[in-house]
Amino acid sequence: MDALALEARLPKKPQNGPLGTGIPAPTPAKRKSTKKAKKAVVFFEVEILDAKTKDKLCFLDKVEPNATIGEIKSMFTKSHPQFYPTRQSIRLDPKGKSLKDEDILQHLPVGTTATFYFRDLGAQISWVTVFLTEYAGPLIIYLLFYFRVPFIYAPKYDFTTSKHWVVHLACMCHSFHYVKRLLETLFVHRFSHGTMPLRNIFKNCTYYWGFAAWMAYYINHPLYTPPIYGEQQVKLALIMFLFCQIGNFSIHIALRNLRPPGSKTRKIPYPTKNPFTWIFLLVSCPNYTYELGSWLGFTLMTQCLPVAFFFIVGFIQMTVWAKGKHRSYQKEFPHYPTLRSPILPFVL
Ligand SMILES: NC(=O)c1ccc[n+]([C@@H]2O[C@H](COP(=O)([O-])OP(=O)(O)OC[C@H]3O[C@@H](n4cnc5c(N)ncnc54)[C@H](OP(=O)(O)O)[C@@H]3O)[C@@H](O)[C@H]2O)c1
Repeated sequence: MDALALEARLPKKPQNGPLGTGIPAPTPAKRKSTKKAKKAVVFFEVEILDAKTKDKLCFLDKVEPNATIGEIKSMFTKSHPQFYPTRQSIRLDPKGKSLKDEDILQHLPVGTTATFYFRDLGAQISWVTVFLTEYAGPLIIYLLFYFRVPFIYAPKYDFTTSKHWVVHLACMCHSFHYVKRLLETLFVHRFSHGTMPLRNIFKNCTYYWGFAAWMAYYINHPLYTPPIYGEQQVKLALIMFLFCQIGNFSIHIALRNLRPPGSKTRKIPYPTKNPFTWIFLLVSCPNYTYELGSWLGFTLMTQCLPVAFFFIVGFIQMTVWAKGKHRSYQKEFPHYPTLRSPILPFVL
């Protein structure tokens, strides 16, 4: 619908001053300028339908053309308080992608009577809470096994310590890894999403906590046997682990520096002065590459089957995510460097 058509549909204002108010009717010159102002702003009508049932949930009249999706979500919340903004997914198509909060109404492919579809994303929880819960869990769980608290192993082993130095080293590495992650979540990452669905926390915690318990049970078991090639294997594994931890941290800092505080901008990451970031020449998500390297190092250090499983599952999961991120980079940036692979240089 064009501007004139909408104006025709707007209620006509009285030409003379409102009856009984005593306010004089505008002069012709004033009327002309008011008309101009009216023409300049074309308000939108927005209807929001349920994406599943197509029922009309809400109708918003006279929405400013430069209103953002975030503002429309806030208006929708007024009539449906249970659906606070972060719980809402607003789409142009019932099965399409969610619009971004910063998308502007008049820049979307809609007429002045816009139809959007709503999906409930379910109860939300902040990302920081999610990460803190996910990462504090493995840290504490591992230490319970390390200190051999009662009811884990036979009572005679309660609060005893392992005679193998690699067990103590593994505990230090595991704890270091999760303390690093907690601190990065609090002080390094600049997330673009404020929240995530509450149900995901159960899934993620089962994964992280479950694997931590499984790995810790075997590594700290009184019958644990150290790696076959002894000290040499452990030392090599430790170097690999530490190298990859520094690499992972360097990439997190590089990603942080791509995004000014408080913004949600996404840019192409490039190598910086820090040599650990030079891997950006070949890989789109080197933080995952280094993360995998760390777990490979930990697998070699402990030579423990559950750790190898954790490494393999993490590998599969991070490869899926890295491929998705790599595709979005290619889609978003037409001149995205062609030499890069998602997670492993030249391979994957
Ligand atoms: N062991 C495992 O199974 C496992 C699995 C997954 C992750 N992890 C660890 O957890 C870390 C974080 O994981 P993640 O999946 O959140 O990593 P990620 O998606 O690479 O994001 C890390 C941070 O950088 C930001 N970011 C990413 N690309 C950006 C760009 N092009 N421009 C600006 N900012 C950008 C992200 O913001 P957004 O909020 O916009 O994404 C986020 O704050 C990983 O690096 C890894 O060490 C471990």
